[in-house]
Amino acid sequence: MSKEKHFVLSEEERSSFLRLGESFGESDVLYGKTNQMARNLLSPVVEKILPADIVAAIFEMKDGVGPELMTISNLPFDEDLPSDEALDVRVLQKTKISETCLVGINSLLGGEMQEERSSHQPGCIHQVTPVEKFVGEASGRGGGGIPFHAENMFVKNSPTFLSLFCIKGEVGVETEYLYVSDIVKRLDEETINALKKPIYTISSGDGFDQKVLSNSPVLDDLGSGWIACRFYEEDRIFSEGLEGKGAIEMLHAAINAARDEDTKSVELTSGTLLLFSNAIRKGACGGVLHGRRGDMSIKKTASSNASNNRWLQRVCVELSY
Ligand SMILES: [Fe+2]
Repeated sequence: MSKEKHFVLSEEERSSFLRLGESFGESDVLYGKTNQMARNLLSPVVEKILPADIVAAIFEMKDGVGPELMTISNLPFDEDLPSDEALDVRVLQKTKISETCLVGINSLLGGEMQEERSSHQPGCIHQVTPVEKFVGEASGRGGGGIPFHAENMFVKNSPTFLSLFCIKGEVGVETEYLYVSDIVKRLDEETINALKKPIYTISSGDGFDQKVLSNSPVLDDLGSGWIACRFYEEDRIFSEGLEGKGAIEMLHAAINAARDEDTKSVELTSGTLLLFSNAIRKGACGGVLHGRRGDMSIKKTASSNASNNRWLQRVCVELSY
C-alpha cells in the first residue's frame, strides 16, 4: 500500500462543503464547542458529502493501518478575509468555511480534537500564520523555518493525527515531511532496543510554558499495538546513562541521513487539507515528522493595510487506544 494518498474533490463536492461552511456565517460556535459540533452535526453530513474512497482512507488511518499522509484539495475556503490587523479579531470576524472543512473532516477520525489551554491560542483550532510581533518565534506565529518534529511529543497524550488546512498559501514556503519508517530503517537493533527503555527526558522547544516528559521511552508502546515515535531533529531528547546517550546519537544520525535523502515537501495552496499520522501508528513505527522550509513574508495588502500573510489552520486529534 502506498504511504500517501492525494485526492481532489469534484466541483459538486466542493459546493456541498461551501454550503455547509456558509451555514455557519461568522459564528464562533466551532471554536466554543468544536468536539460536540463535530460529533453531533458535522460527522454524518461530511461522511455523506465525501466520496467513498476518501472516507475509506480516513477510516483506515483511524485504525492505524491506512495511508500515513493524505491531501484533499479543491475544498472551499474563505475568500474575503477581514482586514483587521489583530489575529484574534480576524479569526472572530472571518466566515467559518475553512473551520467547517477542517473540523468536519477531522470528525471522521472519531477522536478528541485537543485544546491547547497553555497556548497563546486556546481551543481546538489553531492559527498558523506569522504575526509581526512574534515573527522570530519557532512556532505557529513565527516566520522562519522549523526543523523536523512530531507534534507535542513532550506530553504523554501526544496527538495521534495532525491536520493543516490552507486558507492562504505563499509561493516558496513549503511544508516538509519525513517518514518515520525512513528513519527507523537506518537504526540497528541495539539502538531500537535502547530507545524502548524508559530512560529519556523529552523536552518542549518553545519558550512559552516549558514542559518535560520524564522517564519515557522514545519508541513508546501506547497500548493495543499503537506506538509513538518521540522523534525530534533538534536536541530535545536527553538521557543520563551511556546507553541512552549512545542511542540518542544514533537516532540523530539516522534523522539527519533520512532528512538529506528522503525529505518530501508540499507547497500548500488555498483549499488544501493535509492530514497525517503524527509519528503514531499501529503495529509498527510509522507516520511522519513535519517541518517548514522558507521564510514567510509579513505582507500587507496595498489597499487596506490589512495583513495578507500565509494562513493555515491546525487541528490535533487524539485517539484513545
Ligand atoms: Fe508542528
